[in-house]
Amino acid sequence: MKILLTGGAGYIGSHVAAALVSAGHEVVCFDNLSNSDAAVMDRLEAITGTVIPLVQGDIRDGDALRAALNDHAAGAVIHFAGLKAVGESVAEPMKYYDNNVRGTLTLLEAMRDCGVKTLVFSSSATVYGEPRYLPLDEEHPTSATNPYGRTKLMIEEMLADVAAADGDWRIATLRYFNPVGAHDSGLIGENPNGVPNNLMPFISRVAAGRLNELSVFGNDYDTPDGTGVRDYIHVVDLADGHVAALEAITKNDQPLSTWNLGTGQGYSVLDMVEAFERVNGVRVPYRIAPRRDGDVASCFASPERAARELGWTAERGLDTMCASSWRFERMLATRNAD
Ligand code: NAD
Ligand code: UFG
Repeated sequence: MKILLTGGAGYIGSHVAAALVSAGHEVVCFDNLSNSDAAVMDRLEAITGTVIPLVQGDIRDGDALRAALNDHAAGAVIHFAGLKAVGESVAEPMKYYDNNVRGTLTLLEAMRDCGVKTLVFSSSATVYGEPRYLPLDEEHPTSATNPYGRTKLMIEEMLADVAAADGDWRIATLRYFNPVGAHDSGLIGENPNGVPNNLMPFISRVAAGRLNELSVFGNDYDTPDGTGVRDYIHVVDLADGHVAALEAITKNDQPLSTWNLGTGQGYSVLDMVEAFERVNGVRVPYRIAPRRDGDVASCFASPERAARELGWTAERGLDTMCASSWRFERMLATRNAD
């Protein structure tokens, strides 16, 4: 089956493209390159030995989507395209509703028009809001604390309505915890524009000397060392979870399924710093800074439903996450030196 990946040139989409090809699927990427670079397609070719077509287009353009679905005879879509910066979503909410919500509605209409009703959607653990209990299972109540999270929640609700109205749809909503790390090749990884918002790319850049020090946002949380605890998941494990989810929904008779993709294991900010320094033999200077608005103390998954229903569990540990992030950071330094 040929699968169209919206946002396929991005961080997670590119790793899923590689995983799908190695599982024997054909892939086409559809991306407006607003947060990625077409050069990623050459790197994917080097990794997979396959030319993966890139259609440069915007998910808010229904005609472009219909043309891509028809021209490539796509049988399914994995939908990564979206904006994801929480702070920016607070400052510019309309941009987020337009890109993420309107973009997804336009995609759903185009899929319906082309008779493609198999969809995997990138959701986020952010839809659980402030955890009422841990680990977070898929039955945990949902809520949103910022516009980015609200777009994910609105899209989830839209997908539930679509699946309820037409039982031919096969939709998987995947709630990612904290994706980190990079492909073993070091060729693809996370390379955010500007100063990173997320912990792991920030740590990598401090270790590389591109940033002076890490600010640890709060050490007075109710956690073992006082710093925030998250469920970091290696992006290659996350990618394999997409392959498993896609294969499951094409076989099962449920119009809508929801799975957490996490490890079930929480690590603190200081655990991450210690592991990164130890594994890579580098220094990550840090200082304790005030808490960041909107952060919760702890957030980690129950990955049991995915294990039971998909036969998928994350296999790569913290050391592998840190080593692969650093390998990618070194690769970036080589590229920049060229
Ligand atoms: P990313 O920014 O690297 O990838 C998103 C891709 O979508 C980019 O290549 C961008 O150019 C493209 N894109 C954005 N708007 C588009 C549009 N209107 N039309 C076409 N292409 C568009 O981000 P990522 O980390 O790979 O995230 C992928 C998805 O996973 C997003 O939906 C994000 O919200 C979700 N997610 C990410 C995380 C995380 O920590 N990375 C956590 C939870 C959920
Ligand atoms: N942190 C720091 N310093 C930094 C960056 C982060 O101390 O410079 C801390 C945060 O306070 C938090 C932890 O590192 O305790 C992880 O922070 P991230 O920003 O990497 O990740 P979040 O858990 O805050 O958020 C991420 C995504 C969201 C998504 C959420 C749940 O950025 O989009 O995971 O999936 F909603």
